[in-house]
Amino acid sequence: MRKIILSTVAMTGLVALSACGGGNAPEEAPAETEATAEAEPAAEEPAPEPAADVAFADLTGDAAAGATVFAQCRTCHLIEEGKNGVGPSLYGVVGRAAGSIEGFNYSDANKGSGLIWTPEVLFEYLEAPREYMPGTRMAYPGLKDPQDRADLIAYLQTNGE
Ligand code: HEC
Repeated sequence: MRKIILSTVAMTGLVALSACGGGNAPEEAPAETEATAEAEPAAEEPAPEPAADVAFADLTGDAAAGATVFAQCRTCHLIEEGKNGVGPSLYGVVGRAAGSIEGFNYSDANKGSGLIWTPEVLFEYLEAPREYMPGTRMAYPGLKDPQDRADLIAYLQTNGE
């Protein structure tokens, strides 16, 4: 079976070769190759920064835009003092020690993290909470867009006002 296929290929090749033969090959081909080579100068543009590497310090958060982003958190969090939902109250969260809301049933991962929720820490955490804090009970996949995170943090800093 294999031999037959091989010889069919070989024969097809021969047929193709002989079709081109006979001294009728076109002569323009080399000229075209030269033109193409000149039309492509080496590009030396710097590569654009990948979005994932944007530093928090390079962004300016817009609290009004962050209020819209907060819709993703609102199913579980309120920004009202002493009012917990599925997640702890986020009133005054910026600058607060992780796991410090009295009476909220935190996971050991959150309560024992030793983190302070500074803007920089929130920026990293919110990108992928379960990677940043393995074992957290917060069932939220993360906010990939760095600008959305900066806006959201600006909103959290206003305590929703
Ligand atoms: C599906 C529910 C849910 C959503 C959505 C959610 N969270 Fe949470 N969040 C939780 C829970 C539950 C915890 C407590 C986690 C633990 O104890 O491990 C938590 C904890 C936190 C903490 C730590 C607070 C503390 O007192 O230590 C922060 C900060 C936080 N969430 C911010 C956010 C933000 C901002 C969003 C929106 C981008 C969000 N969360 C979306 C459920 C949620």
